[in-house]
Amino acid sequence: MILIIDFGSQFNQLIARRVREYSVYCQIDPPGIDIEYIKSLNPEGIILSGGPSSIYEKKSPKIDKRIFDLKVPVLGICYGMQFMIDAFGGTVKMSKRREYGFAELNIRRNAGLFKGIEKRTQCWMSHGDSIQKLPDGFSITASTENTKIAAAANTKKKLYGLQFHPEVVHTVKGKNMLKTFLFDVCGCKRSWTMKSFADDTTARIKDEVSGKKVILGLSGGVDSSVTALLIHRAIGKKLTCIFVDNGLLRKDEGKKLKETFKKHLRINIRYVNARRQFLEALSGVTDPEKKRKIIGKIFVDVFEVEAGKIKGATFLAQGTLYPDIIESQSAFGGPTSVIKSHHNVGGLPKKMKLNLIEPLKYLFKDEVRLLGKELGLDENLVWRQPFPGPGLAIRIIGEVTPRRLNILREVDAILLEEIRESGYYRKLWQSFAVLLPLKSVGIMGDKRTYENIASIRAVTSKDAMTADWARLPHKLLAKISNRIINEIRGVNRVVYDISSKPPSTIEWE
Ligand code: XMP
Repeated sequence: MILIIDFGSQFNQLIARRVREYSVYCQIDPPGIDIEYIKSLNPEGIILSGGPSSIYEKKSPKIDKRIFDLKVPVLGICYGMQFMIDAFGGTVKMSKRREYGFAELNIRRNAGLFKGIEKRTQCWMSHGDSIQKLPDGFSITASTENTKIAAAANTKKKLYGLQFHPEVVHTVKGKNMLKTFLFDVCGCKRSWTMKSFADDTTARIKDEVSGKKVILGLSGGVDSSVTALLIHRAIGKKLTCIFVDNGLLRKDEGKKLKETFKKHLRINIRYVNARRQFLEALSGVTDPEKKRKIIGKIFVDVFEVEAGKIKGATFLAQGTLYPDIIESQSAFGGPTSVIKSHHNVGGLPKKMKLNLIEPLKYLFKDEVRLLGKELGLDENLVWRQPFPGPGLAIRIIGEVTPRRLNILREVDAILLEEIRESGYYRKLWQSFAVLLPLKSVGIMGDKRTYENIASIRAVTSKDAMTADWARLPHKLLAKISNRIINEIRGVNRVVYDISSKPPSTIEWE
């Protein structure tokens, strides 16, 4: 494995993505980790990431310098390089000119890392400080116009430094550099596959749980479904999934999920019909935050009661993903720093005194989908678009009533059918309908109508942090609009949401 030390750069997840794309397992840890822990990981190489600090700041993040005695190759990127050079007695200074953006890299010496790369290539810089003097044993391997020491190496000790960022696409040959580091310098093998992950994790869960019972809150999304499959593979009937039907799901969703898990996958599932409880509590509520709070609280209450019925349960499984963990780890903290709980079942573990199992906590979303495929999860579930915990309640603007839920469910079902049919479903991050608290006048069969307005929302996104409204073909939008207005009683106007995030959000509430 490759250990990545997180000095706080915004590109850290990218480094991990790149390494894993080469089927090499890697892990990101904060600089505060203990040297004994590092030794126990037995890394084949260590990457010190970039970061916003200056190594001369008092509070700048530091890693135990004994990592350089482990005889493990180290690649320092940006701040990581400066840290390494400083540790060996070189000098780092504030440069007169900040260098940010594209730069032409002149490679002076291959030194093992620039194998097969032409002498002049484009790189991406983002730094204030620069290295002024290299310590003994290091030599310059590449320069740019503004930065003489843009790359350096001590090949004898297998220590490499890059002042620029090889992990971003703007460094054209960055991937090659990382690849050479992984395979030629560190001698890694391409052994990280979803099959090996599934096998290792199944064995680990079996060991950890050792015959005890596990509970899992199933939402129907990819993360909790894959978690369920993995744990079921390890412990079979000792796993019980709890699925709370809050009455705010899409059309037929609860039914389909029950069928998939019970009939096809033969996983223990407790289906809890709590629709009435949720709808009664939501009656008369129009404020979006109040809706969310009510739904969150009732979910916890219902889940607790249900979980209490499973005697002898000692573990709670959650589908937490790696980005959640990385984002909540402080660059300056230790491995024990607070970890964000999953927003769908937030607050559960603390109250319930169960031990947490989070088997996906080192995976990225696309890896979870691949793992789902590997474990035989239905294609529809593998590629399911995200669906928010509060469900249709935050897509009905104004009061949530059974009638309005029915209308929205039908509108949404038509929309999804057409989006799937057109081949757009997988290309979109999310596509859904919103019911507005407005009515408008229409004409149908010579008669005046005064009915609801539905809005269509379809966005593209990589991670939901930003999103763009999807440029769906007019023909498709026309078909969706015609079908909705003709087939759904209660809707006489359809509009398309053309706002991006930011400044709008994906959901309307
Ligand atoms: P926004 O609306 O903030 O949404 O742009 C970003 C992403 O998060 C989803 N979302 C939620 N997911 N519980 C969830 O599990 C929630 O309360 C919630 N609110 C928003 C949203 O669907 C989008 O993918």
